[in-house]
Amino acid sequence: MLTLAARMSRAKPSAIMAVADKAKQLKATGRDVISFSIGVPNFLPGPHVYDAVRDALGKDSGQYGSNRGSDALLDAFLKHLDGTGLTGYSRKNIATGIGAKHVLYNLAEALLDPGDTIAFPVPYWTTYVDIAEILEAKIRAMPCPADQNYKLTPAQLDAALPGVKVFLFNNPSNPTGMVYTRDEIGALADVLVKHPDVWIICDDIYNRMVFDGVGYHNFVNARPELRERVIHVDSLSKTYGMPGWRVGFITGPEVVAQACVTLNSNHITNVPEIVTAAAVAALAGPQDVPTQKCAEFQAKRDLVMDVMNSIAGLVCPRPQGAFYVFPNVSSAFGKSHGGVKIANDVDFCNVLLESKGVACVPGSAFGDPNALRISYTCPTAQLPEGLRRFAEFFAELA
Ligand SMILES: Cc1ncc(COP(=O)(O)O)c(C=O)c1O
Repeated sequence: MLTLAARMSRAKPSAIMAVADKAKQLKATGRDVISFSIGVPNFLPGPHVYDAVRDALGKDSGQYGSNRGSDALLDAFLKHLDGTGLTGYSRKNIATGIGAKHVLYNLAEALLDPGDTIAFPVPYWTTYVDIAEILEAKIRAMPCPADQNYKLTPAQLDAALPGVKVFLFNNPSNPTGMVYTRDEIGALADVLVKHPDVWIICDDIYNRMVFDGVGYHNFVNARPELRERVIHVDSLSKTYGMPGWRVGFITGPEVVAQACVTLNSNHITNVPEIVTAAAVAALAGPQDVPTQKCAEFQAKRDLVMDVMNSIAGLVCPRPQGAFYVFPNVSSAFGKSHGGVKIANDVDFCNVLLESKGVACVPGSAFGDPNALRISYTCPTAQLPEGLRRFAEFFAELA
């Protein structure tokens, strides 16, 4: 009998893409759908990126490239790292890949054997679970509900870490938009110092999208002795409006970067030359697009929070980064809308989409079935109408 590998029974298609597909299907039938589902930035990089691509096309070598990434790309990324406050790294500390998703997969392969334990806070970005399951790692979930602002506490971390091989931390967070303050990062770093056998992966891909002057803070700067086991993950997707270009980075100890380079040599080989040219231009060129977009996202966050705060029965911690809010909508469970019963987050999102044409992602996709995720990257003009319909839906629950 022909069979697929057993791991394929553990691999699931993305729950977020399923909602996005359903919204697309409805749109195709002529429905007016506003999508708060998919986390794409909805802007393009500056013209200098396209100029660099045109230039590179004229000079294309057509050859394989470096498994680590070209020197120009590594140097441009090192400069970008400096800008985020991560200094003291060199080319040998970096490995590139096809987006953050790919470099996270590389890291998991490099650090986790089957049966090893990976710990991360819940809610989490969906792919963390999928990668762990494919690689047969055990998951230690650390629940961080809305009433603790979706944030991990030092006591929780301390209690969870014994026996853990990898701690995976995402700041700013997808799906909650929460950002840890300098003091909060410092307190978690103090705990991490006490657990010397744990690798620490920091998925920092939203590090340039932080609002209210909170800033992006990290464990390495809080406790420099952690540098030898912290690995930072970054990507061009969100900051530069380049999700389809597929460029991701890890920065960390030489031995880990080298392991990722070795994995690259066995699958992707290299980030393509033309994509590299675009990435260098984005990282080293003018930064006005990311700066302006961050300000726009902050204004949109304000708009979304005004509506969330006006809805009785909804609990929504105020996010300070990325482009998501994660309201707890559990007060709606057990009620009905237009005669249709809403038992859980999935029903909520389905009935909302069908009755109001607003697409959100059920919180269970991120490990918290009491909530749903709103991604507010839709065109600015659509946002007030989408929020109006969302509030109207809530008000109509009986
Ligand atoms: C927290 C987080 N990490 C990683 C990724 C993957 O990003 P990339 O497009 O670089 O693969 C995403 C994308 O949504 C994300 O939200």
